[in-house]
Amino acid sequence: MAFAKISQTACYVPEQIITNDDLSKIMDTSDEWISSRTGIKERRISRNQDTSDLASQVAQQLLDKSGYQPEDIDFIIVATISPDSMMPSTAARVQATIGASRAFTFDLTAACSGFIFALATAEKFIKSGSYQKGLVIGAEVLSKTLDWSDRRTAVLFGDGAGGVLLEATQEEHFLAEDLHSDGGRGQSLTSGQCGLSSPYSNKAENHPFLAMDGRTIFDFAVRDVSKSIRVLLEDNQLAQQDLDYVLLHQANIRILDKMAKKIGIERDKFLANMMRYGNTSAASVPILLAESVENGIIKLDGSQTVLLSGFGGGLTWGSLIVKI
Ligand code: ACO
Repeated sequence: MAFAKISQTACYVPEQIITNDDLSKIMDTSDEWISSRTGIKERRISRNQDTSDLASQVAQQLLDKSGYQPEDIDFIIVATISPDSMMPSTAARVQATIGASRAFTFDLTAACSGFIFALATAEKFIKSGSYQKGLVIGAEVLSKTLDWSDRRTAVLFGDGAGGVLLEATQEEHFLAEDLHSDGGRGQSLTSGQCGLSSPYSNKAENHPFLAMDGRTIFDFAVRDVSKSIRVLLEDNQLAQQDLDYVLLHQANIRILDKMAKKIGIERDKFLANMMRYGNTSAASVPILLAESVENGIIKLDGSQTVLLSGFGGGLTWGSLIVKI
């Protein structure tokens, strides 16, 4: 029987740092307002790299770290809500850039849960026994999807990419999984709506920019996502002491604080980096994971148990418990 394990991690963020003070020069906001409500101090904003450029940097790092050749890769999945284009997919662009000629590739759209859904999907490919190695990447250039005249959303998001190399192995590493969607609440977080447009249609509503009902999303995360994590732990007879770390989607420090309390897991186990990157949607969990490996918190030697969780547009939410 084949199992999957995360064998390498990598992340890449654009060079340009935009602080809260920088934002206060172009819109009516302040470091005090943004920091106290979100925990965000700065974010990376791309000057000239699109989503596939960031994702390709991650893919190349994963190849370099593993020592594999591009042709060794069986598949590439990129989770994103800010693709360079609908066709070709971001993943196909990454394939061309790194020369992974044997890989099949596709993008997956599940907003801030995208990386979790992509990792859960990739695990099934490996488990099928048909594929040995896959790249799973979350990558976003959200700055191109924002309405920069709307201070309620523009201050929250940033650009970046992170990813993992997933490989076949003999032992079980993916211990538990829980994925959800609620399309009925989808209108509380929207972006990229492209209206009908043809000589035969009469309804051309375009809402290209990201729009959000902040309070609803805050309550959704604290209530529904916390509950799903509690149930996941219970169903798998796992106690909080069985988890070494929790890596939640990095939306907002207040969401994280409240979720820690609701789930009943020590706050120290929740890793955070949204202060430096803002909310990078599908990229947030893999960037945090890669940074935690880089600074030695997560060892990548199979000795630790971590909970990865994403939540956001769709609405979507999902968690994985992984031996890493
Ligand atoms: N700077 C200064 N003032 C602002 C800003 C800003 N950037 N944005 C809004 N305000 C003002 C508003 O205009 C309002 O002023 P008013 O009372 O005079 O009308 C006041 O601040 C309060 O606005 P609210 O929207 O009620 O602010 P709230 O306290 O709800 O905080 C926030 C907004 C931070 C977005 C909060 O709702 C939140 O954390 N939501 C979670 C959503 C989130 O993080 N989403 C990320 C994407 S989804 C995801 O990743 C899961």
